[in-house]
Amino acid sequence: MMKYCQFIFVVYCLLPPVHSDFPDFVSGFGLTVTNFSKVNEQLCDVTVQSQEVKGDQQIRILLPQNYTTSGKTRRYPVLYLLHGGMGGAEDWTQKGGIAQQILGNLSLITIMPNGDPFGWYTNWINPGKAAPQNWRTFHNEQVVPWIDANLRTVARKGGRAIAGLSMGGFGAVRYAEVYHQLYNYTASFSGAIDLLNWGVQTVIFGSEAADKKAVDGPFGVPFLTTPSSGWVIENPITHAKLLRDVNIALYSGNQGIVELAMHDCNNHMNRTLNSLNIPHYYDFYGNGKSIGHGCHGKHEWPCWNAALMDVAPKIMAVLEQE
Ligand SMILES: *[C@@H]1O[C@H](CO)[C@@H](O)[C@H](O)[C@H]1NC(C)=O
Ligand SMILES: *[C@@H]1O[C@H](CO)[C@@H](O)[C@H](O)[C@H]1NC(C)=O
Ligand SMILES: *[C@@H]1O[C@H](CO)[C@@H](O)[C@H](O)[C@H]1NC(C)=O
Ligand SMILES: *[C@@H]1O[C@H](CO)[C@@H](O)[C@H](O)[C@H]1NC(C)=O
Ligand SMILES: *[C@@H]1O[C@H](CO)[C@@H](O)[C@H](O)[C@H]1NC(C)=O
Repeated sequence: MMKYCQFIFVVYCLLPPVHSDFPDFVSGFGLTVTNFSKVNEQLCDVTVQSQEVKGDQQIRILLPQNYTTSGKTRRYPVLYLLHGGMGGAEDWTQKGGIAQQILGNLSLITIMPNGDPFGWYTNWINPGKAAPQNWRTFHNEQVVPWIDANLRTVARKGGRAIAGLSMGGFGAVRYAEVYHQLYNYTASFSGAIDLLNWGVQTVIFGSEAADKKAVDGPFGVPFLTTPSSGWVIENPITHAKLLRDVNIALYSGNQGIVELAMHDCNNHMNRTLNSLNIPHYYDFYGNGKSIGHGCHGKHEWPCWNAALMDVAPKIMAVLEQE
């Protein structure tokens, strides 16, 4: 008996559970796991490296309650939740976002990957010294299958949604177009979803200055609108017809110069989808009164939190559980 206890003790000490509340995240699908840290009972950060994007990438993961005890056959749908310009993986749970309060009680896994403060959720046309900057490939062809391998997900279109704010709203819609076989639902909050909008281009060049990356990095030569320009090729408006088999929710206010530009983008997308007879939900909340929760219709967190609260039950109503 003594021997047996010693044996158990030795095995336990040599092979301790790395982080018992969370599964062990292992490398694969082009991602090398370099760090893990628990934030709270349901939230953790995994750091990965990839040959598609330069540097360490943080991925913040919100697990549903009781994930570890719910059994091997219990699988959950996944929401990919993208941050905005000048932001990072922590924004939705820390820097103004209250995603854990909004989503933490749902039977849902939420993945909040870094997309770089100026990554623009695209494979850069002119990465220059910042190369590689293939954010779209990194997120959709590496992070998505890696998450499906490491967590008990409903690993198919019927179990996946994507949403984001501002630059992340662009990402959510553009990813759902290019990878419409991956996502059942896309939601854009104050999304910069028209690259030919003058205000969006101005915002892009303004935010770029702070991040010291090339002006023409993500989409090529600025203000160029010839058919071969990245601003046309990567424009969500240009490819709206690819959203035919995706559920779409758009949200925007109209207060302040930045949100007014986003409002123009969303109106343009609304008209485009209507002309294509593609059903979608468009909540234009103006000064914010109609959506509430402290939103004043500006380009601000209370509105994005309110929009996430509004869209969460719509997403949960269509995503499959297992
Ligand atoms: C791993 O993450 C922890 C918590 O964020 C941090 O303190 C530590 O420095 C990181 N280690 C490495 C090797 O990056
Ligand atoms: C999690 O487990 C606890 C204890 O069994 C239970 O009270 C609670 O309702 C569960 N929560 C969910 C969301 O299933
Ligand atoms: C979940 O629901 C409980 C009970 O309604 C509440 O106390 C808690 O704050 C909610 N949110 C999270 C993230 O658990
Ligand atoms: C996606 O959502 C719709 C509901 O709008 C549903 O009918 C469809 O079966 C879902 N799954 C897939 C794989 O598209
Ligand atoms: C969306 O477009 C349709 C017609 O194209 C229009 O009737 C509707 O008012 C628009 N919605 C908003 C919120 O502007």
